[in-house]
Amino acid sequence: MTEVTQQGFEAKNYIRAISPYVAGKPIEETAREYGLKVSDIVKLASNENPLGMPESAKKAVAEAVTGLTRYPDGNARDFRDAVARYLNVPESWVIAGNGSDEILGLVARLVLEPGTKCVYSQYSFSVYELSAQENGAECVQVPARDFAVDLEAMLEAIDEKTRLCFVTNPNNPTGLALSPEALESFLERVPAHCVVVLDEAYCHYLPENLRADSVAWVRRFPNLMVTRTFSKAYGLAGLRAGFGVAQAPLIEMMNRIRPPFNMNSLAQAAACAAIDDEAFLKTVYEANRAGLATFEALFTRLGLTFIPSTANFMLVRVGDKAARINTELLKRGVIVRPVTSYGLPEWLRISVGSSAENARFAEAFEEALKAVA
Ligand SMILES: Cc1ncc(COP(=O)(O)O)c(C=O)c1O
Repeated sequence: MTEVTQQGFEAKNYIRAISPYVAGKPIEETAREYGLKVSDIVKLASNENPLGMPESAKKAVAEAVTGLTRYPDGNARDFRDAVARYLNVPESWVIAGNGSDEILGLVARLVLEPGTKCVYSQYSFSVYELSAQENGAECVQVPARDFAVDLEAMLEAIDEKTRLCFVTNPNNPTGLALSPEALESFLERVPAHCVVVLDEAYCHYLPENLRADSVAWVRRFPNLMVTRTFSKAYGLAGLRAGFGVAQAPLIEMMNRIRPPFNMNSLAQAAACAAIDDEAFLKTVYEANRAGLATFEALFTRLGLTFIPSTANFMLVRVGDKAARINTELLKRGVIVRPVTSYGLPEWLRISVGSSAENARFAEAFEEALKAVA
């Protein structure tokens, strides 16, 4: 299973086959490459929160700084208690993560190995594929239907070798949501030997009528893990805070492979302070809806196809000049996300920014379109 590299060490073949995760282009790198000032750059590439973090989190971080000489609480007890109270589940049903990415990776490590399969949709978060690959499992990417996750086709793809299935609601990079009814019916039919990860990284952006009581499903289905993050609506991406919720036996198994002290002290403190800040979440939701409406109006005026979004970003089709348009945007200090690595070479994904950032994007985007015409 291994191959000797030029350097002499042996890396597993299935790890050598991995293409690394493509992240949004960092602000500092763009400033360097294009000779721009960091302060002049608008980054709309990683679905971060333009409103920042709630005051409660800032205060908690400032207080927690003095304790950084000590290791964090390795069990993240206060954090898990806060999540458990918030979701009304036992604390033994919650696992803390260094971002929700870590939880996705831990579930994969727990259940996948060579000879097993992992099922996920076309146009879904690239970490799913990566986490299957790094465990030597077979990746089964199920074709989307009109860009949307096709739950029925996913069910058909799940067989006796399938140990893991990832579903995202709403989905990244499409921004499309699944109906609670369709999701529930799907969960009822997934065989018990297949763990389902329902990734709700963007759930706070869903309109009221599409919000599902996913925790009620965790109570019903022992093979379900719901993951959430503080990186998006809570504005804490740089701290790395996320969690998973599942029934105790699944969490207990995951804790066996969870790295010690995986969630740092600042992340624990900030997330505890922010978790039930409903007023902040409401402001974030409303600002995001307004931003999405601005994008829709812009793309409609420009005669471009876009996918109506229920998340904090939007996909717009710009055609075969997408790479050049992206470069023109970068020259103007605007970073968006090319999605070629997601199999969408003619599209760009734009995160919703502040009103001023959205206006900067609109201006630069029109100029970029003209520049490549
Ligand atoms: C669908 C989805 N899931 C999970 C994550 C991971 O978020 P984090 O590790 O910051 O919690 C992201 C981040 O972009 C995402 O888009």
